[in-house]
Amino acid sequence: MKIAWGITGAGHLLSESVEILEELVKDHKITIFLSNAGEEVLKMYGLYERVTAITGGYYRELALDSDQSFSYPISGRLSLGKYDLFILSPTTSNTVAKIVHGIGDSLMTTSVAQAGKGGVQTLIVPVDLEIGDVETILPSKLELESCADCETCEASKKCNQGAILPKTEINLLKCIGCGECEDACPFNAISAGKKITIHMRDIDIENTHKLVLMDGIYVLKHPNEIMRHI
Ligand SMILES: Cc1cc2nc3c(=O)[nH]c(=O)nc-3n(C[C@H](O)[C@H](O)[C@H](O)COP(=O)(O)O)c2cc1C
Repeated sequence: MKIAWGITGAGHLLSESVEILEELVKDHKITIFLSNAGEEVLKMYGLYERVTAITGGYYRELALDSDQSFSYPISGRLSLGKYDLFILSPTTSNTVAKIVHGIGDSLMTTSVAQAGKGGVQTLIVPVDLEIGDVETILPSKLELESCADCETCEASKKCNQGAILPKTEINLLKCIGCGECEDACPFNAISAGKKITIHMRDIDIENTHKLVLMDGIYVLKHPNEIMRHI
């Protein structure tokens, strides 16, 4: 099959999505679409290299929002029905909100619109699904209560990206999620993959419900369900 797979800037269900993507790419031609935030967040969670490693070749490209200017020419493949399926996983509340309001002002939202026009079925895994609390995972974080304010910050010294501001925070826009700082700090002041609980907003859940009612779109609860639809 020829598949387009979009990744937006959600940390929730991100590693689970990448795992399924890595499985699917073994048997299918997959073009990977990244929203600007998707590109950044993949780096923060140390997953960007894994995604780029499975791209290369015709219909196996990495399509970046930032490379697609304002009109997103690659989305034309969807309006021409060149893909058998468009998968969006994980999908942020921001992208869901735009889709349900018919907005097409980014690579991802334009591609969903073009898939609808080209009769390409779209599978969407939204991260905001049901009312209530959800456990999610953070990227690397400097835990100030554990930081000993050492004269030489070993974690900062180890970081090739210059992402650590000692005794302050990690600049996530520089962080590539390699985890080296975590190992370098003798006081375990850097956490990675810490679990937190977040509350789902009513507006985001309402938007997900609207998504379920849209033609040509099929909403899945988890990336694990994608395989059943291939
Ligand atoms: C570390 C990190 C994790 C994030 N995780 C989520 C998330 O799970 N769900 C969500 O809706 N937004 C999340 N965001 C915020 C989105 O990246 C932000 O709303 C962005 O504008 C979404 O753009 P996009 O929909 O074009 O990808 C996260 C941001 C950061 C920095």
